[in-house]
Amino acid sequence: MTGLATAAVRAGQRQPTADQHSEALVLTSSYLFDDAHDAAEKFAGRRAGNVYVRFTNPTVRGFEERLAALEGGDDAVATGSGMAAYTAVSMALLEAGDHVLLAEGVFGTTTRLYQHYLSKFGVTTTILPVDDNDRWAAAIGPATRMVVVESPTNPVMRVADLRFLAGLSHAHGALFLVDNTLCTPVLQQPLALGADLVLHSAGKYLDGQGRCGGGAVVGAAPLVEAVRGVLRTAGPSLSPFNAWLLTKSLETLPLRMRAHGEVAGAVSDWLTTQDDVEAVHFPGRDDHPQAALIARQQSGPGGLLSFTVPGGRAGAWSFIDHLKLISNTTNIGDTKTMATHPASTTHGRLTDEQRRSAGIRPDLVRLSIGIEDPADLIEDLAQALGAARRDVGGSERAGAGFGDRADDLAGGRADDVADNVAGDVAGDVAGDVAGDVADDVADDLVDVRAGGRADDRADDRADDRDGERAGDRAGDRAVDRTGAAR
Ligand SMILES: Cc1ncc(COP(=O)(O)O)c(C=O)c1O
Repeated sequence: MTGLATAAVRAGQRQPTADQHSEALVLTSSYLFDDAHDAAEKFAGRRAGNVYVRFTNPTVRGFEERLAALEGGDDAVATGSGMAAYTAVSMALLEAGDHVLLAEGVFGTTTRLYQHYLSKFGVTTTILPVDDNDRWAAAIGPATRMVVVESPTNPVMRVADLRFLAGLSHAHGALFLVDNTLCTPVLQQPLALGADLVLHSAGKYLDGQGRCGGGAVVGAAPLVEAVRGVLRTAGPSLSPFNAWLLTKSLETLPLRMRAHGEVAGAVSDWLTTQDDVEAVHFPGRDDHPQAALIARQQSGPGGLLSFTVPGGRAGAWSFIDHLKLISNTTNIGDTKTMATHPASTTHGRLTDEQRRSAGIRPDLVRLSIGIEDPADLIEDLAQALGAARRDVGGSERAGAGFGDRADDLAGGRADDVADNVAGDVAGDVAGDVAGDVADDVADDLVDVRAGGRADDRADDRADDRDGERAGDRAGDRAVDRTGAAR
């Protein structure tokens, strides 16, 4: 099966159990075995088959096979979220002493995972501008085990040179991972450009209708098998119901991605006619600084763009508050158009310096363009921009640019909470941002107090009895550090 549109509707279809034509949703946590020997063989991995919902389910498997076909990968493993995919990849393929190169401007929580959590386990991370090849070449070294990029990064839509980074990674024995959430395999196929692993936050364009969370990792079989081992042991799995939604969504992915790009192009063209909109970031623009590279590695622009609103952060917030049709929400990749203020939401947990360096200005608004009629979107944008102009006094840039005081406060509080493991500023003026961090920390503490460690040890003993450790060790050998890179 070669055509992408055909694979999107046909790949991964299971044998019907009731002559059904549409893919079935198999909701079961356990499976019947033929006999005791059959159970033992399947648990030990010596016989293929379903064992337990944490790591085997036919509906999830159908989604994995369909996505692998679209990305052109040997195999895929589905996870409960995009962050679960990053966590599982890291647990499977990194160890203490390893070094990671990470693109600046990736999803804020991804940066936090590497800097705040993986650092606790001895993994160091260097963050680099996604579009500066010389800096990547200078920073890679013998300890670099993984190179991680999103391309394009959002919200400022800078692009990584995927072929260059694949070559660089492999020359140094490192794995190259591309987060392909924004482009999807319809617009960009990183494995064909040399990447070892593709990662998705599946609740974005793959679902495309804002209904569920999910994640996935696609790549060569031994690498995917190593990640699957983490699912079995640590459990960040995708629910069968979400897998069923995602499987059906993939069928319309090629149509939707083209539609998103066309509508986003019309909106981007209109935004550039607004004199006081200083910047419009959209990969489909001829004057994008990396237009030639985009044309080489993407077959379309996708649906995400961002632009600056006159009047600094006050203007951006006023603009969002006056939208009538476009939704104020932080997701991306929905059929409905959504507006987000990245500096105070998706990227609110970065430091000021990280935001400044990634170009995430306080006056920047991100639009995830849906598939509505462009004229309706433009009408809404025009009235909200007009209202923002009136609110902040025309083109007078009150608090424009970086260093907006309220932003500084919010960012500073969030960092303090994270650093001090104290939740006492939650509920403060900066509460929305700080509260998230405090909640994370509180959750972590509750887990530890509730004896999470003891539970883990008990689980491990049970797993030993099932012979799982032996299976994991075999998986580990399959991705041993010399053989895993390709
Ligand atoms: C590009 C990208 N990668 C990964 C993630 C994390 O995915 P999830 O929210 O499914 O955990 C996001 C979330 O917005 C994202 O935008």
